Amino acid sequence: MERRERFLAALKGEAVDRPPVWLMRQAGRYLEGYRAVRAKHGFWDVCHQPELSTHVALEPLNKFPLDAAIVFSDILVVPQALGLDVTFGKGEGPQVGRPLRGPADLEAWNTQGLMDRLQFLPKAVKHLSDTLKGSHGLMGFAGAPFTLFAYVVEGQGSDDFKLARTMLHAQPELAKKALTLLAEAAAELLEAQCQSGADAVQLFDTWGGLLSREEYRTFCIPALRAITERLHAKGRTVLLFVRGGHHLLPVLGESHVDGFSLDWRTPFAEARALYPKAILQGNLDPVLLFAPPDVVRARTQALLQEMKQNGGFRRTIFNLGHGILPGTPVESVAALCDAVVRGG
Ligand code: CP3
Repeated sequence: MERRERFLAALKGEAVDRPPVWLMRQAGRYLEGYRAVRAKHGFWDVCHQPELSTHVALEPLNKFPLDAAIVFSDILVVPQALGLDVTFGKGEGPQVGRPLRGPADLEAWNTQGLMDRLQFLPKAVKHLSDTLKGSHGLMGFAGAPFTLFAYVVEGQGSDDFKLARTMLHAQPELAKKALTLLAEAAAELLEAQCQSGADAVQLFDTWGGLLSREEYRTFCIPALRAITERLHAKGRTVLLFVRGGHHLLPVLGESHVDGFSLDWRTPFAEARALYPKAILQGNLDPVLLFAPPDVVRARTQALLQEMKQNGGFRRTIFNLGHGILPGTPVESVAALCDAVVRGG
């Protein structure tokens, strides 16, 4: 099968020779070419200029036999377009200027003409799609409302996002207003990417796993439903990644997404038993890529085996359980891809 054909077949639930493979954060600092681009250009310049964005998105496709590309961008483009200053301090994670702490901070968000300021992203998708000419599948993405909320409230990365989680209970109306607004922005941004050539889109809920089932149901599900309703009206395919979301699995279906990108701690077989008709993607531990290539190969084969025994590869996409980490050996990524290609 051709790469894009395999990827589309997996999305549609048609038969495949083997699961298609792509990797979250497949373009990034572990690649030499990316680091060379970043030595010359700021991170936001790479996101904002379609030629640069395409250039770095293609590097992993040229190195490894991946079946799909993901547009090069970031989830924090939405807070940035809302007028918040977003920067990446060295090793400290993202910093967001004027964090959301009270109603006046939300009032200050610049929602007028939001999509005009985000046009660079659908443009990057179009540029990448025109360059690929159908050689690979193409993923678009956005931050899930809660993960964006977590960053804009906290103002920076955090282990527990204490301020953001407190706000859900201390100022629930403000929290819901912010989540609704972030969901509207995500929905528009995802639809624009689909119109520009994305075959499917993924919502990244990196911090959703910090919430209890009840909290996820109260605050996240309605926001996610607003997104899926909007995209399903246009026939789009939406995947949802929730890091640390094993305990949330029984309620995630209420979001009505078409599939789940599983965290490495979520047993694939368990997710398949719960969601026989969903697209399931995942979920090799990205830390395993620091082990020798023969270990990577063996773990990849074991996961393929589990996938085969639980749904016979239908609606299944091979991926990691979280993004590739900086410093990941390129040989390990090659070993993973090679094992998937041979493992069908
Ligand atoms: O190939 C790809 O998937 C790349 C596109 C991509 C990036 N970020 C590029 C990026 C994607 C899909 C993301 C998603 C993203 N961004 C998430 C969700 C996925 C996840 O990993 O949980 C999150 C939480 C963010 C927010 C964010 N942006 C963080 C935490 C960081 C790293 C901060 C740091 O410096 O440690 C970023 C910056 C970022 N986004 C980089 C890349 C390649 C590194 C920036 C650099 O070049 O210095």
